Amino acid sequence: MKIEQLTIADLPEAAKFCRINMKFDIMPDFLFKEKTFDDPDFNPELALVARNENEIIGLMVGVIRTHKKLGKIGYIKLMAVKSSERRKGIASQLYEIIHEKFVKEGCERERIYESHPNYFQPGIDPLYTEAICFVERKGFKKFNDTANMICSLVDKNFDTSKDEERLLSDGIIIKRADKDDYDKTMKFILNEFELWEDEVKFAFKNNPISLHIAIYNDEVVGFSAYDTNNLNTGWFGPMGTSPKMRGKNIGGVLLKRCLKDQQSQGHPFAIIPWVGPIPFYSHHCGAKVQRVFWRYEKLI
Ligand SMILES: CC(C)(COP(=O)(O)OP(=O)(O)OC[C@H]1O[C@@H](n2cnc3c(N)ncnc32)[C@H](O)[C@@H]1OP(=O)(O)O)[C@@H](O)C(=O)NCCC(=O)NCCS
Repeated sequence: MKIEQLTIADLPEAAKFCRINMKFDIMPDFLFKEKTFDDPDFNPELALVARNENEIIGLMVGVIRTHKKLGKIGYIKLMAVKSSERRKGIASQLYEIIHEKFVKEGCERERIYESHPNYFQPGIDPLYTEAICFVERKGFKKFNDTANMICSLVDKNFDTSKDEERLLSDGIIIKRADKDDYDKTMKFILNEFELWEDEVKFAFKNNPISLHIAIYNDEVVGFSAYDTNNLNTGWFGPMGTSPKMRGKNIGGVLLKRCLKDQQSQGHPFAIIPWVGPIPFYSHHCGAKVQRVFWRYEKLI
């Protein structure tokens, strides 16, 4: 077996390898590319494949991000070993190389999968029991859990015109953001939802801009977005309403505006990842918990 860096030529085989060996997930080629080569922090030294002859038998992709509050974090964002080759130490060898690089680069902690803002899933789905065993063996500790919800878009009416009229009579304007809204939207995000700065910037690059906003007294007081990660999979979010403006149905209207867009894109369902206020989504769009994820961390 040899370990090599993942190259663009490996893309179709590597994506297929993920489809076969990460059996609770769907990994089209375009999504694999987004998670690897298109990640702005992609580092080929952290994207490894294990090969036997010419066949990929293991894959592990890491990434390093610097967060304002948590400092430098090393993430394992994808990992899988061919089912017939497991328990032979292949993932361990791949992890050792990536872990050493994390240490060398001064990461203060490591986490699994949740490499926000470009991440595949927000943690380990415990259905991947072998992955739970593996990361616990490597010294990771579970520190939290989270869930993805799923919202059917089939035969749903997301018309919000009446609610928007009511909000307008209170001076609250609901609209799709356009490029002239960029500065006041970013001001709001940096003041109230700094964590989502990158996603919101991403939404502004989409065509049409995949972001709806609420404006009150010429200031942005709420937003909802989609297609900011895992593009072309019906990925919703993030969204947020200013605490001082909550309880007025601003969030409900903004949510439905995005779902309506996603419906018109042809998606049969939207994924509402990494939640969050489960009752809010259940109430406004009948979303249900789809998958649960355990979040793991190891301090370096
Ligand atoms: C998780 C995975 C990548 C581990 O790959 P691997 O090459 O089998 O891992 P290793 O052989 O290096 O395992 C190292 C240690 O982890 C632990 N471990 C790994 N798999 C285990 C299992 N099935 N049961 C118990 N412990 C396990 C053991 O302590 C093992 O050491 P040991 O064999 O000396 O006891 C592999 O099981 C896999 O591809 N699973 C499916 C895909 C997946 O879960 N991806 C992550 C999705 S979140």
